[in-house]
Amino acid sequence: MYRRNGNGIAGGCAVVCGIGVLAFAASSAFAADPAKIDWAKVPATTVTLFYPGQSTYQWLRSSEHAGAQGVASGAGCVGCHKGQEQQKGSSLVKGDKLEPTPPAGKDGAKQLNVQVAYDKKNAYFRFQWKTNKPQPGDAYPVYRFDGKEWKVFGGPRLEKKVFSGTEPAVYEDRLSMMIDDGSVSGFAAQGCWLTCHDGERDSRKQPSADEVKATAFFQTIKKADVRKYLPKTRTDANASWDKGVSVDEVAKLKAAGYFLDLVQWRAHRSNPVGMADDGYVLEYRNFDAGKNPFSSNLDPKTKQPRFMYDAAKFGKKALAVADINKTGTPLVKGQNAVPFDPKAGWKAGDMLPRYVVSAKDATGSAADNKQVKGVWKDGTWTVAWARPLNLANADDKPLKEGKVYNFAFAVHDDNITTRGHQVSFVRSLGLGAKADIQAVKLP
Ligand code: HEC
Repeated sequence: MYRRNGNGIAGGCAVVCGIGVLAFAASSAFAADPAKIDWAKVPATTVTLFYPGQSTYQWLRSSEHAGAQGVASGAGCVGCHKGQEQQKGSSLVKGDKLEPTPPAGKDGAKQLNVQVAYDKKNAYFRFQWKTNKPQPGDAYPVYRFDGKEWKVFGGPRLEKKVFSGTEPAVYEDRLSMMIDDGSVSGFAAQGCWLTCHDGERDSRKQPSADEVKATAFFQTIKKADVRKYLPKTRTDANASWDKGVSVDEVAKLKAAGYFLDLVQWRAHRSNPVGMADDGYVLEYRNFDAGKNPFSSNLDPKTKQPRFMYDAAKFGKKALAVADINKTGTPLVKGQNAVPFDPKAGWKAGDMLPRYVVSAKDATGSAADNKQVKGVWKDGTWTVAWARPLNLANADDKPLKEGKVYNFAFAVHDDNITTRGHQVSFVRSLGLGAKADIQAVKLP
């Protein structure tokens, strides 16, 4: 039976299990041995993350923000808000003009411990944070059989049907990093807030899917919703979501290095196979070339799931509503998944995961983060992560010795997605170079 790592294993697992898994993965030719890292010798930086509400690029430049002029002229957030993360997050999360749907009981700020080391092959990150819930959020919305069709059931807390109490809150915990090598003008000063705009999912002034689809720019990029983007991919001074530059111009910006790396560790969709995903932010929040470790579990032709649980290993072929937030439900090829059998006697209320996870299926630049393992214990996630140095893909920011980067961190927990995260102001991070966070060089 498939079990979340650390489940049922007695004490001391947070450190030992995480490193144990990395050591196992380190047998691949690409990896140095992260098990040799003595994290106790790598200094930890505590970064305070805070709940940003709907403080978008456009709001920050509007008359509603007292610092609008400063922001418009490129001033950094910390110039005016240094040390205010805790206070700002605590007040925003309770609901105000920037938070129309305050999620009950959510923490406004979070302490993220960050440790970084590197050797000739990889940069190594170790993150630790306390979850708001007394259990790890490694569940995800499902497909529920209603007797005829398989329909999405459950969702993140800010979604209408969940916020109104019609369906249960379920979503995976995540740890994200955005990385700039200095090519994205303004990122060092304003970080995440360069990417967060009116019109995006769950932000201010969100357009309907039909409105998005009716927009010429979104027809060219073939997307039906608005996600993170950078200002230079829009033509107007306010960087409006619907005023996109041409695809040729997007390609030029990318070739010039004007994009952010965005990598995300996901408790449901990447952690079960010891990975994180790999994406980038430019005209949209894109995934890198290749294939993610997770893929849709719905067959577009039959409208039925592609995989179900292997009852011999998982104990049953499907979940029931009482299982929706239980840990250990990821559907993993080679572990607990078997091809869907339409004749298996499906009953209304049977549920199967929306995604199927596979390390083997992941390919290309999307599969660069192959040694990432999170272990939850006593209320804390510990995620240890190896990212190869000197990546040569067109959609990555290669990490190199001697260089300094601008990093922004985010944590999603408490069954939430989109803006319901806690985010950091920018930190510089140096590999053998002076910075806010300095990576320790390993022998
Ligand atoms: C020139 C100074 C200045 C700069 C630069 C600045 N701000 Fe502000 N900001 C203010 C002032 C003044 C207020 C009102 C008092 C307060 O809430 O701190 C404010 C308020 C806020 C609020 C609180 C809104 C609320 O409803 O409670 C948020 C969030 C915020 N700023 C975010 C940012 C972010 C993010 C940046 C960087 C992109 C930034 N600010 C840059 C001066 C500034």
